Amino acid sequence: MRILITAGPTREYLDDVRYLSNASSGRMGYALVEAALKLGHDVVLVTGPVELPPPAGCEVHAVETTGQMRDACVTAFMECDGVIAAAAVCDYRPVRRVTGKIAKTGGPITIDMIETDDVLAELGATKDGRWVVGFALEAENPRERALQKLRAKNCDWIVLNGPAAIGSVANEVELLGATGESLQTWSGTKRNVADKLLGWLHERYAKV
Ligand code: CTP
Repeated sequence: MRILITAGPTREYLDDVRYLSNASSGRMGYALVEAALKLGHDVVLVTGPVELPPPAGCEVHAVETTGQMRDACVTAFMECDGVIAAAAVCDYRPVRRVTGKIAKTGGPITIDMIETDDVLAELGATKDGRWVVGFALEAENPRERALQKLRAKNCDWIVLNGPAAIGSVANEVELLGATGESLQTWSGTKRNVADKLLGWLHERYAKV
């Protein structure tokens, strides 16, 4: 199979030197890439800025902003059999990016923000026969909220994890299907969890 994987954070610029982002390390997404490569799949990695070197053997598209991630994914997805969206995408961006550097005013400032493109929702809406796996990072009512996301973004499966996953080496996840059934729970290092998820997808979708 040819699999699109998103990883890492995005950045949304306030001006030419400052941005909003999050603490995603990219470890989960990169572990998924390695797991998919080990099983012999082709992988397109669309990655936000992270410290990790991209795994050898995949096609890499390095992006910064959510808009760039969206454009790279929409193009790459046309040639893929499925997508796993592990990126921690910024939900909001400043309405405008100031050229140069915002100077201090001596008082508080207000920044108007609008929602970014929802990359996964766009891929889900155009998936046709392709499979779509989302991640959901939830603190409260986790299953209910994860399922809402699965439906809103037209995913086939969603991987539920908690806030402790951000920036950490280990993870504890639950795989949910479209009817809300809990299909699997996996815990351990992100590499272990990635191997389990890819093994599960391979069994289900890989052509023999
Ligand atoms: N996602 C995306 N584009 C966005 C926001 C999220 O592709 N603009 C993807 C993530 O990669 C993940 C899934 O959507 O696979 C859910 O992300 P999450 O941050 O848990 O949910 P949000 O939709 O951002 O909702 P909220 O932050 O309100 O919980």
